[in-house]
Amino acid sequence: MSSLKLDTKTEANDLIKLFGKSKEQLIPILQEIQKRHGYLPEPLLKELCGLADFSEAELFGVATFYSQFRFTPRGRHPLKVCTGTACHIAGATAIVEALQDELQIKVGETSQDGEFSLETVACLGCCSLAPVLMVRDEAIGQLDPLQMKKTLSRITEQKT
Ligand code: FES
Repeated sequence: MSSLKLDTKTEANDLIKLFGKSKEQLIPILQEIQKRHGYLPEPLLKELCGLADFSEAELFGVATFYSQFRFTPRGRHPLKVCTGTACHIAGATAIVEALQDELQIKVGETSQDGEFSLETVACLGCCSLAPVLMVRDEAIGQLDPLQMKKTLSRITEQKT
């Protein structure tokens, strides 16, 4: 997933060189890692803690506090369910639950086969289609929680 071909040790050193090793740099460092990889690879985080002035407990404390950070790679089809007001009223919670059931994952996780990851997001700006699911650049609206299996098959067929 990473576009950089650095090994873990080299990358950790590179990050320290770029940002320094102080605890105040923890969030910018995590943001940079996530930008490079799309998630926070655990071996890199551990390597980093060996070099920096923050402990693993401090790093994981920060990384788990902010929802912007994730610990697993996104799936080939990243699913973002809108939980904005209009979508919430139109049944976004049932959509999230149906997807969790169907994929056997929780929000923030990726299915075992790497096909789907699940996130919730704020208003996507197409409230008239509520409830809405965004898959990459495509908004799928007026979702029916009873039709999730069909919706997922359609997504897989379209993108392969
Ligand atoms: S609230 Fe979901 S698109 Fe606006």
